[in-house]
Amino acid sequence: MCGIIGYTGPLDARSILLNGLSTLEYRGYDSAGIALCMEDSSICVAKKVGKVQALKDYCDAQITGGSHSGIGHTRWATHGGVTDENAHPHRAGRVTLIHNGIIENYHALTEQFGLQDRLVSQTDSEVAAWVLDRLYTGDPLKAIRELMGMVEGSYGFCIMFDDQPGAVYAARSVSPLVASYTHAGAMIASDLTALIPYTNQYFVVPEDHIVKLTPYKVHVYELDDSFSKFYPEIMTVNWNMDAAMKNGFPHFMLKEIHEQPEAMKQTILPRMNKGLPDFTDDRIPDQIFADCSQIHIVACGTAMHAGMVARAVMEPILRIPVTVTIASEFRYEQPLIDEKTLVIIISQSGETIDTLAALRLAREYGSVTLAVVNVKGSTIARESDYVLYTHAGPEIAVASTKAYSVQLAALYLIGCRMALVRGKFSRKEAADFLEKLIDAIPAMETMIEQKDTIKALVTHIIQSPDAFFIGRGLDYAFSLEGALKLKEISYIHAEAYAAGELKHGTIALISDQVPVIAIATQDHVFAKTISNIREVKARGAYVILLTREGAVVDENLADIRIRIPDLDDRFTVFPIAVVLQLIAYYASLGKNLDVDQPRNLAKSVTVE
Ligand code: G6P
Repeated sequence: MCGIIGYTGPLDARSILLNGLSTLEYRGYDSAGIALCMEDSSICVAKKVGKVQALKDYCDAQITGGSHSGIGHTRWATHGGVTDENAHPHRAGRVTLIHNGIIENYHALTEQFGLQDRLVSQTDSEVAAWVLDRLYTGDPLKAIRELMGMVEGSYGFCIMFDDQPGAVYAARSVSPLVASYTHAGAMIASDLTALIPYTNQYFVVPEDHIVKLTPYKVHVYELDDSFSKFYPEIMTVNWNMDAAMKNGFPHFMLKEIHEQPEAMKQTILPRMNKGLPDFTDDRIPDQIFADCSQIHIVACGTAMHAGMVARAVMEPILRIPVTVTIASEFRYEQPLIDEKTLVIIISQSGETIDTLAALRLAREYGSVTLAVVNVKGSTIARESDYVLYTHAGPEIAVASTKAYSVQLAALYLIGCRMALVRGKFSRKEAADFLEKLIDAIPAMETMIEQKDTIKALVTHIIQSPDAFFIGRGLDYAFSLEGALKLKEISYIHAEAYAAGELKHGTIALISDQVPVIAIATQDHVFAKTISNIREVKARGAYVILLTREGAVVDENLADIRIRIPDLDDRFTVFPIAVVLQLIAYYASLGKNLDVDQPRNLAKSVTVE
């Protein structure tokens, strides 16, 4: 979850590392630090609680002198509180180290190496640094290999040794790392966004390998006796730095909300052939859709909510069981899956640790795995049997917006192709379905244009400590995402309930002026949802009602009504998602909070 970066080359390392940390900050932002190898070969460490800007100010005041190599880290605390001591880099004898991940056996290692009196922080990472110092006898590769054999857990390390000036070493297990050699020098980072200002060519550091960066080269080594060289596949990024900038928007989240219609087109249109979904270019064979007897969708957070919508759309069409499971649960269950199960893994980052573990478990069971992933070359994309990339470009705001829409678009394409292959859709029905999906794009634009109306209605929501989202069927699945968006960035306690379930407890929480965001876009349960809305209204709720344009409702039913364009039931999620995202965005803004980097959260959850 932390962001890490390493650099060595002709340029000023300090500014490269600090700028890189600013772009990586969304991965973790409770403290940050850098270590520089100065021109006299001494190591200078600066670390500070707070945002990267606090570290920049500190470095400006404290560091004089140039440097051409170093490592940097933004932290999302796991072991030990948010203090300067616990911030990375950690110095241990001749070793300076940063770490993304969790060392599970840090306690045993502390005892084994008698480190109790050495440690100045409460972190697992400092233990790894000290162990490495103990193992180091002048050969960095040997010492790192030995360390890798001892630590249990997940890690992306960047390391400098006092007696190896100008060289940066790195190693990974599970936690992601990408690297590049550019005209500006050699770079390594937990995320591509830090490399993009310098290059569009990169490689993914393979797990259980060691990387050595020098100003002139990057080498990747196997862990065998002779440290054989490994030559990774060089990849090209298909977006530029503009995509990772705010471009005039006050926040990444608002920019990413606006990017959704275009991202939808990028995801859908290249997969259309004669009006039908076609995965030939993705190399996904129809056989996997024809052969399976059930679908199991596994994901976390917003991606899991996309899966819940997909389940409700796919199951009635395909008439086979479609199950959705939270990845952190799935990985410790004994799932009822087999080689006839198509396991769909959804992940924006392609690095979420629980989702990755779920994928590996599914493969152990012999299931066919199909990943819906945004980040090209990510671990989940590489390890699954098939991958359908969404083309949202980089998503920087912690609260996911465009990734959700394109995950849905990808899942709708999968559902449609599968229905066609299995004879559940005629060609005409499949083409109609796809046309309706495309019609949802202008409907999203319509709702984005109404952002000022949505901004105005949020005034009431932000005065309340609680908010409820209700709906039935698909509307309930949308509610789950609406509540998650609101709570994660506005800190308002928000819950989603199946409207029919209210009377079994939750209605006790409805009192005067409590905001209830009621979604009623599903025809077959419309009247039922309206009755439930009357029930909360009768108990004093402040009702914000989301319906289709053409829906006929009593004027007194809601305090505010937002109308979305008239779409087929299965496609209302797209404009509804925009409305729910904007509600959360303006609530966070109205409370003067950090919209893009809400407290305690991080964009990419790479620790359990
Ligand atoms: C974090 C992010 C969410 C995201 C979830 C799953 O919680 O804040 O926005 O939905 O992780 O991430 P993934 O990258 O696997 O989609």
